[in-house]
Amino acid sequence: MVREGSPCWTQKCRGLLLGLLVILILGAVVVLSAVVLARRREPPAPLPQWKGRGSTAHLREILLGRCFSYAGLLHPELRKDCLKIWEAFEKAFISKNPCNITEEDYQPLMALAAHPIPCNKTLLWSKTNELAHQYTKVRGDLLTLEDTLLGYMADGLMWCGSPSSAEMNYQSCPHWRECANNPNSIYWKMASRIFAEAACGVVHVMLNGSISQPFGNSSIFGSVEVHHLNPKRVHLMKVWVIHNLSAQSSDSCSKSSIKELKSILEGRNIAFSCKGDHRAVQLIQCVGNPEEPACRAC
Ligand SMILES: *[C@@H]1O[C@H](CO)[C@@H](O)[C@H](O)[C@H]1NC(C)=O
Ligand SMILES: *[C@@H]1O[C@H](CO)[C@@H](O)[C@H](O)[C@H]1NC(C)=O
Ligand SMILES: *[C@@H]1O[C@H](CO)[C@@H](O)[C@H](O)[C@H]1NC(C)=O
Ligand SMILES: *[C@@H]1O[C@H](CO)[C@@H](O)[C@H](O)[C@H]1NC(C)=O
Ligand SMILES: *[C@@H]1O[C@H](CO)[C@@H](O)[C@H](O)[C@H]1NC(C)=O
Repeated sequence: MVREGSPCWTQKCRGLLLGLLVILILGAVVVLSAVVLARRREPPAPLPQWKGRGSTAHLREILLGRCFSYAGLLHPELRKDCLKIWEAFEKAFISKNPCNITEEDYQPLMALAAHPIPCNKTLLWSKTNELAHQYTKVRGDLLTLEDTLLGYMADGLMWCGSPSSAEMNYQSCPHWRECANNPNSIYWKMASRIFAEAACGVVHVMLNGSISQPFGNSSIFGSVEVHHLNPKRVHLMKVWVIHNLSAQSSDSCSKSSIKELKSILEGRNIAFSCKGDHRAVQLIQCVGNPEEPACRAC
């Protein structure tokens, strides 16, 4: 009796089982595709958002190009290996927290790229960026940091990485106000320190007489360079305080901020001399503004 009814029951059961199976498979497909779609929509692990501009596009190409131009064409006697320099540069900050860069990170790069500066050739500057570089281009007798390999390669560029990625962060990098130990600030502080330490003989500095504090103790010049000149090698600092051409030429050497510089230098046993408006510099200013009254005498 039971057996008689069982084929029918089994058929029903088969039907039910088949239905259940189809439902299960359909359900699994729906769930799986939902998971896959959700994964797809998830953006790649986001890079941290900083307030400063991101790494310069084509950083590698620019840096390598500048290195080959400087060390290959302009100064082959330095015998620098630009590929090694690039590798050391990258290693200093790639895959690292861009707020936690140290001088040790840059040590291998600085050792590879630094080169001697002849005595009496060093020109430091603060708030006179453009004019100081125009001056060294026109007159070959002095060199700024940007006329050395380290300064030349990185001038105007930005770079940083992120601990979660082996790539550069092209979106944003820490502004110096966000954190002082960022790859850019540490690089410039260290390169400036090495440049100042290498100076000997007479050192020149071009300061800006058209601002209230031509010497500022928080500038790189005031906070790093002045304190790392070696008094055993540097005997005199010649200060040029340069005004805007249109501004009244005032006696800038007696300004209190210049007196502060004088006392810091004399405290370090380095003699000090100061000149407002150096003629050779003024002539370069005049090239861009020949109609200025101050340029007529020429
Ligand atoms: C910063 O770096 C040092 C050494 O590189 C490490 O010991 C320290 O834990 C780091 N700190 C942070 C906050 O990442
Ligand atoms: C550097 O300048 C000083 C003073 O002008 C001079 O006595 C010295 O010989 C110069 N040194 C070199 C290497 O030119
Ligand atoms: C001095 O600083 C002012 C303000 O930043 C700037 O406009 C001017 O060009 C600077 N002067 C020189 C000689 O660099
Ligand atoms: C100096 O000159 C520049 C342009 O040549 C101007 O932008 C700036 O405001 C001037 N600064 C002062 C303090 O006169
Ligand atoms: C920088 O100068 C200001 C005054 O201009 C002074 O109060 C401050 O202590 C100085 N800072 C350093 C580190 O010398």
